[in-house]
This record gives sequence, structure tokens and C-alpha cells, in this order.
Amino acid sequence: MGMEDFKHAVLEGIPEELPARKERDPEVSHAPVRKDILNQKEKRLALKNALRYFDPRHHEVLADEFAQELGKYGRIYMYRFRPDYQISARSIDDFPHQSKQAAAIMLMLSNNLDYAIAQHPNELITYGGNGAVFQNWAQYRLAMKYLAEMTDEQTLVLYSGHPMGLFPSHKDAPRVVVTNGMVIPNYSSQDDYEKYNALGVSQYGQMTAGSFMYIGPQGIVHGTTITVLNAGRRLQDGSDGLGGKIFVTSGLGGMSGAQAKAAVIAGAVGVVAEVNPDAVHKRHSQGWVDEVYTDLDELLNRIEEARKKKEAVSLAYQGNIVDLWEKFVEEGTKIELGSDQTSLHNPWAGGYYPAGLSFEEANEMMAHDPEAFKKKVQESLIRQVNAINIMSKKGMYFWDYGNAFLLEAGRAGADVMKEDGTFIYPSYVEDIMGPLCFDYGFGPFRWVCTSSDPKDLRLTDKIAGDVLEEMAKTAPPEIRQQMEDNLRWIRAAEENKLVVGSQARILYADCEGRTRIAEAFNKAIKEGRITAPVVLGRDHHDVSGTDSPFRETANIYDGSSFTADMAIQNVIGDAFRGATWVSIHNGGGVGWGEVINGGFGMLLDGSEDADRRLKMMLHWDVNNGIARRSWARNEEAIFAIKRAMEAEPRLKITLPNVAEDDLLERYF
Ligand SMILES: NC(=O)c1ccc[n+]([C@@H]2O[C@H](COP(=O)([O-])OP(=O)(O)OC[C@H]3O[C@@H](n4cnc5c(N)ncnc54)[C@H](O)[C@@H]3O)[C@@H](O)[C@H]2O)c1
Repeated sequence: MGMEDFKHAVLEGIPEELPARKERDPEVSHAPVRKDILNQKEKRLALKNALRYFDPRHHEVLADEFAQELGKYGRIYMYRFRPDYQISARSIDDFPHQSKQAAAIMLMLSNNLDYAIAQHPNELITYGGNGAVFQNWAQYRLAMKYLAEMTDEQTLVLYSGHPMGLFPSHKDAPRVVVTNGMVIPNYSSQDDYEKYNALGVSQYGQMTAGSFMYIGPQGIVHGTTITVLNAGRRLQDGSDGLGGKIFVTSGLGGMSGAQAKAAVIAGAVGVVAEVNPDAVHKRHSQGWVDEVYTDLDELLNRIEEARKKKEAVSLAYQGNIVDLWEKFVEEGTKIELGSDQTSLHNPWAGGYYPAGLSFEEANEMMAHDPEAFKKKVQESLIRQVNAINIMSKKGMYFWDYGNAFLLEAGRAGADVMKEDGTFIYPSYVEDIMGPLCFDYGFGPFRWVCTSSDPKDLRLTDKIAGDVLEEMAKTAPPEIRQQMEDNLRWIRAAEENKLVVGSQARILYADCEGRTRIAEAFNKAIKEGRITAPVVLGRDHHDVSGTDSPFRETANIYDGSSFTADMAIQNVIGDAFRGATWVSIHNGGGVGWGEVINGGFGMLLDGSEDADRRLKMMLHWDVNNGIARRSWARNEEAIFAIKRAMEAEPRLKITLPNVAEDDLLERYF
């Protein structure tokens, strides 16, 4: 479709005349059939809700079609209204617009729905199985039309994908405010989600799916690299770097697939077990894992060779992780780092494959004898933990990767509990991400070049690297390591070929780093060196945006990890300090009802307004979380917030006084 036709289609919104009926695209992956949760009366309501988007003269045709969709798939996606044009992160000026900010938002949300990027594009799901951008295609069409027509004096309001409309505002206000899955707290069970989503009144936005900030697998590769590097430092064996060190884990799936690539970037020998031959093949053909082994003896020989030569290489074991751990125990192999990324948040329906069964046998048993399958999973987890415990006693550092490994192993009766009821191994947020990154303000800052030109991205990489290099010269010892890790990452970023879709980059930076990089970008845009505006944003898995007691705020120990004030304050604060769009979600990562998370997007267009906004908003967006972490008595955060107060006299934070445990124990 030509450019003019594309613009016309966007501006048309929901067409007056019905487009031809469209079936699902057989070439792409589709969301699983959702639970049939509504009763007859509720199904009528779901249908009535869906028909609200259309002129009554079309109701008869559409009611029939939507009822079929609801019956067949458990949701009404309105497949007929999928646009004919290709959805992708085109260059910003290709989107019809009155407001550049709105055009940037169109670019970003289009990236989340690009067929090459989205997990189930026809169902508007970007990642994580249910991370939705919109609930149906009418919402998409309406939102695109509003964005194309709106000015910088209006704000588009999205309720779980539904465009409530454009409301008058002002140029410093967000152009879009997104809420996803916000429900009354007592109605936040898994089945509540299924019901409200089926009714078409709520959706699960995951983290960056519903906030239009997904940039493909690059984000997870960087986060995993940072984790592996810092896990290596926990070894404290006096050696420098990960050369010749072995990192063993499992999973070459959606997120876990990043482990192999991250191990290589970190300089280690990565060994990853994966039972699903298709997943192994996919990651191998993408170049994310270097070599594949099915024979354990051959694999062990290769590990020893790589150890000796200090090769940075990733080796897949096509088989069960339990067999791999047990082989290491049997052979007395030295392993320095260990983790697990099977999908144990979903243990009984394919997230974890038990040892002793082939992949096919396991699938068969799962479907036809779920009780026996559950027992197999539990036995397997006990075996896995026994082997890991032996390896750990010999000096391996093992951590839980936020996949409920310790939780499910503990439930299965494996030896993972201390006497006080806590786990014997740390989670990656408790030991690594929390104290080494988030508490100092380091988090997954990212940007997207709206020219969609790789040359612009190359220049932004250089600018960001130069800023970090300059900062590293005077950085205090507490954060110098973080600075250097990120410098190394950004200098090699282009070479690592991580861009899929929009011209995007991720980089962990603290408040000062994020601000100085953003200022430098804005200046380069003003001078015309960067040819078009740049969108700033971040993952929600960050310092301030997310309250999640089992992940992002797992290292908050003052009891407040079950509160969500930080995430709510954050989104409000970002909104009035100049964010171009803001979002707040229930759910994301660990599940509906388990987390509140938010994010922002900000367009830098080279203007003085953008310069003023970026300084104001980024300062709050990072320091809100540091302040909360410091009030929770986290030493690293106390250090960071004191430093922030020295740098900005208007910042005045309430600091904690720490009571001695001896004193408390006199009473309780
Ligand atoms: N990467 C991160 O930073 C991160 C952060 C938080 C949580 N997680 C968690 O990690 C888990 C994995 O995520 P994903 O998106 O990769 O899921 P996924 O389901 O796509 O991948 C998991 C893989 O593990 C394989 N597997 C299962 N049992 C196995 C076994 N016994 N031996 C070998 N392989 C086995 C599966 O075949 C599958 O390919 C999830 O629970 C996720 O929530 C990851």
C-alpha cells in the first residue's frame, strides 16, 4: 500500500462501510483459546459492549461474527477490522499527524504490533502470552485516528486499550494517559481478569506491551548480561572477569533465550539446557546460541576446552536440565555460576518438563494424566535441587531468576528452605538487581530514533558512550563498575546486532547518566546532527516504576513491599513533569494482582521545552524510587539519595534513623 493510502486508512478510523471479512492470518502465531468464563447473560453483555463501536446498521452482521469469535476463541478481537497496511515503526513523518508527539506515539505502538515483533499480532498481543496493546481492532483504529488528528492542546485517554476520547489539556501535559487492568483490589484474581477481559472492559498490559515501549529482545539481553556480570562478582574468588568461568542454566525460550547471548557478551562459557528441540533450533539458527550438543560426554569435553581457552561461547544441551546437573555432580565438574529459567510460574501446563520423560512423553502425560505429571514434576525438582545443592557446596553461586524455581521446588518438598522459612538461595533482585542497580538509580533507560534510520542510532550510541566515559572519570567507587559495564555494552551494541523493529537502544544508567545523555541527544537534534526527534523511555522493571514484592521490590525489607504507593506516585509525578505519555498497569511479569507497574515515554525534539521537561521528569522518575528504597533502610539507596541531595539543593528527602537490633530484641 502506498503512503497516501496508508495515511488515508489511518485517518479513516473505523470505516463507515464494513471492510471485507478477514480470517486469521495462518502465517503468524495465535494466542491460545482463552478460558470460557462468561455465563450466557455475560456473553450477551460482551457482545453488546463490542457493538458499541459500530453503527447499528452493521449490528446484525457483526453480532453474528463476534458471537462466533467469542465462542471459538474466548475473546472478541474483531479480526475483520485488521488494517490492510503493514504495521511497523515507520519514520515519524510517515504517520499522518498534527502533533509530532502523537506521531511518535503512533510509531511506538506500531512497533509493538509489528508482525516481526509481536508474539500474537492478530490478537494484538506483544509478548508474555497476554501482554496486550489493545483488546480489539476497533480500539486500535480509533486510537490511531485520534492520534493522527489531535494537537498539542489535547490528551488522549486510554482505559485498558479503549480510547475514551480526546480531552482539552495543554502543551506540557501528556498527549496520552494509559491505564491497563486497573481494578478494585478485591477483584484482582486470575479469574477476575479472564472475566473482565472477555467482557471487553479490561486488559493485561504486561509491562512495555500496553505502554508502547517494547523494543524486542534487546532489553532482556542487556538485563541478563548485567545480571550475569554481577553474579560473577559475587563469587569473590579474586579473579577478574568471567573468562574461563562456566555459567549453567536452562531455557532457550522467550526471555530465557537471552541467557546464551548474555553469557557470551559477559565473556563466560554459557551452558544452557533446553528440552524442546524447536526452541533449540530457533535460537541456534538466530545465532543466539553457538553450538548444540545432545551427548553429555561430548558437551563436557567441549566445556573443558572452552574453560582452558577462556572462550566466550554458548553451548546448548538439547535435553533435560536435571540430567545436566546430575552429570556435573557425577563427573565432579567445576561450575562457577548457576541459575534456572524454566517457566515455573506455570509448572503443570508445560512450563517445566520433568526428567525421565521425553519431550513428547511429557506432553502426552500432561494432557492425559495431569496428576501423574504433577508428581513427575515434583520428583524432578527435588532431583534438580539435590544436584544444585552439591554444586553450591563446592562453591557455585546459584540464584533464582524470578521464575518461581525456589517457590515450586520448596512446595515440592525439595531442600531449599532455611530454618527461618526463607530460601537458601537469593533471587536475582535481592542479591543483584536491587542492591547493585536499582538502589543506586541504575535502570533500563532506552531510546528510539524516530527517523527509523540506523545512522541516527549509531550516532546516539556514540553520544551515550562519550557521556558515560566522561562520567566514569569522576564516578565514586560505589558506582564505577556499573558505569564501566554499560560503557562496554554501548561501545559493542551495534556489533551485537540487537535491533529488531524500531531503531532502539537500551542502556542501564543512573539519574545523572540518563539526564546527561538525554540533554546531549536534545542538543544533537537541535543542531541537526540527529535527523529526527528521539523517544526516551524505559522498561517498567526499574528503580521507581514498579511495586512488585516478588521481583522489583523484593529487596525492600521494611514491610512496605506489599504497598504500591511508589508506582502510583511515580506515574502521577511523571505526568505533571512533562512526560509525553504515561502508563500504569495492574499485572506484568509476575501476574495480574501481583504487581503495579508504570512507565513513560518522552519525545525529545531539540526544543528548549524538551530540555526543561527532560531534566525535571527524569530527576523525579529515578529519585522517587531511590528515596523509597532509602527509607526502607537500603544502604546503597541512602548513599545515592544523599548524593542526589548534594547535587540538587531543592531535593529534601526524609532519611531513616536505624535502630540497633540489640535494642529491639530486648522487647520482642
Ligand atoms: N530473563 C529474565 O530477566 C526474567 C526475569 C524474570 C522472570 N523470568 C522468568 O523466566 C521464566 C522463563 O521465561 P521465558 O519467557 O523464557 O519462558 P519460555 O516458556 O518461553 O521458556 C522456558 C523454556 O524452558 C524449557 N524447559 C522447561 N523445562 C525444562 C527442563 N526441565 N529442562 C530444560 N529445559 C526446560 C522450555 O522448553 C522452554 O523453552 C519465566 O518464568 C519468566 O517469568 C525471566
